[in-house]
Amino acid sequence: MHCHEENDLALKPPPPSLSNLFRHSTLPSGAPATDAQVIRTVLGGKNKMPSFAGRFTEEQMDALLAYLHTGIQ
Ligand code: HEM
Repeated sequence: MHCHEENDLALKPPPPSLSNLFRHSTLPSGAPATDAQVIRTVLGGKNKMPSFAGRFTEEQMDALLAYLHTGIQ
């Protein structure tokens, strides 16, 4: 939320909104909007987004994806 909503680190370019992420066929970068790609981004990081490798259990990652699929971020 700090990054993707408020961007309180003032990252440039700003982190994209994660609302309705799966309602489009591609992510903001143009990569496919799939669970596998989002997991890759979260675990591997992307440019200024840090890696969250080792930070989520499988259950927590499932919950994170389910949350993102609601589209209400
Ligand atoms: C677990 C929490 C997070 C999730 C689920 C998440 C998810 C995503 C997704 C799906 C993208 C789009 C990737 C693409 O367009 O291919 C993204 C991009 C980005 N995120 Fe996150 N993010 C998280 C946490 C963070 C945090 C904490 C930061 C800042 C410290 C951050 C900074 C960014 C930035 C700067 C980008 C743009 C990357 C680029 O294309 O250059 N994210 N994130």
